[in-house]
Amino acid sequence: MATAAPRGGLFGRVKPLDAILATAERKSLHRSLGAIQLTLFGVGCIIGVGIFVLTAVGAQKAGPGLMISFMIAGAVCVVAALCYAEIASMIPVAGSAYTYSYTVMGEFIAWTVGWALLLEYAVGASAVSVGWSNYLTDTVLAQSLGINLPAWLKAGPLVLGGQPGGFINLPAALIALLVTWLLMIGTSESARVNAVLVAIKIIALTAFLVLTLPRMEAENFSPFMPAGVFGGFGSGVGVVGAAATMFFAYVGFDAVSTAAEETKNPQRNVPIGLIGSLAICTIFYMLVSAGAVGTVGGEPIMGPNGTPFPAGSEELARQCAMPQYSEMLVCSREPLAHVLRTIGFGTVGNALGYAAFIALPSVILILLFGQTRIFFVMARDGLLPEKLATVHPRWRTPHIVTAITGVGVALAAAFFPVGQLADVANAGTLYAFLMVAVAVWMLRRRDPDRRRAFRVPALWLVAPLTIFGCLFLFFNLPVEAMLVLPIWTAIGLVFYFLYGYRKSHLGRGIVEVHEPEIHEIEPSIPAVDERDPLDPPRRPPGL
Ligand code: ALA
Repeated sequence: MATAAPRGGLFGRVKPLDAILATAERKSLHRSLGAIQLTLFGVGCIIGVGIFVLTAVGAQKAGPGLMISFMIAGAVCVVAALCYAEIASMIPVAGSAYTYSYTVMGEFIAWTVGWALLLEYAVGASAVSVGWSNYLTDTVLAQSLGINLPAWLKAGPLVLGGQPGGFINLPAALIALLVTWLLMIGTSESARVNAVLVAIKIIALTAFLVLTLPRMEAENFSPFMPAGVFGGFGSGVGVVGAAATMFFAYVGFDAVSTAAEETKNPQRNVPIGLIGSLAICTIFYMLVSAGAVGTVGGEPIMGPNGTPFPAGSEELARQCAMPQYSEMLVCSREPLAHVLRTIGFGTVGNALGYAAFIALPSVILILLFGQTRIFFVMARDGLLPEKLATVHPRWRTPHIVTAITGVGVALAAAFFPVGQLADVANAGTLYAFLMVAVAVWMLRRRDPDRRRAFRVPALWLVAPLTIFGCLFLFFNLPVEAMLVLPIWTAIGLVFYFLYGYRKSHLGRGIVEVHEPEIHEIEPSIPAVDERDPLDPPRRPPGL
């Protein structure tokens, strides 16, 4: 469908909501997903390196108060999830926060959101790749098979966990490339595989709780907040500094919103799926961090000025290499397995390591898939070269954009530490969440009578709380991660003005409201035949 549209100034290029909804209506999908399936999908997207690996990073920032950090980050996600639930049930189309902001705030803001989502999905995928590499090298290779990779092959130049001498994280780069390849040739994860992986993660975390909670000792919680609540602007430490990092453990729940159009009774089930999966994860995260800290202690290693050494820093790596520190939680590269081994459950610890090893690649897959879809929609809008959206004739996947993204993800995974990658991913995600809250709020005022399958209760409170929560976490990130966002946005704007601003379909007077033909990019779908092209399945992997 193409209609004439004014070119509009910088803020005047707004995608007409009616046209988008008409397309969505035309493509309306069979509504088959229930609350349980959505919740399971959410848990599958959410649980990953945040709990399996970043627990050590969080403890170095907050100490035993890490549980409170998980609670703070979870609370910000819950209010953001309510906003997602309203807008996703109203604009159930591909592109997530990018598309929402295009229809409400226009192309310029949408570009910055889409560009920031690159940090969420691509840098997030790098972080998960690095975390996976820890479990491969330490649990699978070293503990089980007795193979010790040299330090220079299993860590980037700066890395948490007593590995000075790191040069390249080869396993992390390889898993990122492998998952990219699987996505390119059209592999997808079926709902059944997702359910199995969710079960593996839940069983592993439950076993962890059963073995650790009864062995907690009160003195391990004292001092509870050795780095204080606020560690100081830009330091990224303290309970809220850790909350800003542990926010990564919740990243991915927004993927549930992409399934709104396929959900039975979305008014009820989308919010249940979003909030339910977040609630399950928050409870697990708080208990698991309590179990870890309560059994082996979670004190940070303090620097000379009385604040913790920065996670992922060379100084911390040097400290962790010393025998008196090397067994501390904050020095562990696979903290949950390490805790179980330390308290005498070596076999279960290794089994938990295997669980992470098996389940984490699916989180990489979901994040990478999300990234390619955002790029795909942006290219279809003319903001990126359309060549990027080319679909492979046989694989039926956007192979070019997938390959480019995958190489970028692999490079970042090869050279950066997990905590810093997570912080950068968080900076982009927080910006996108904030913009979603603004979009929901603006749309309520601008278009109050439009049908909403789900309405956020007390939006006047929830939207500002989301905005405040996102800003709060953002300004508690380490200063380098904070700086990445404006610098990244500035680079994005150069691209926008050199390319997107001139080539934008909307700017050229074309309202192209075709969504990506998801059967073209949805990897698991057979290429041709009986399928009605106007009724393509559009599920993300795992549904
Ligand atoms: N929340 C996901 C994780 O922790 C991205 O790996």
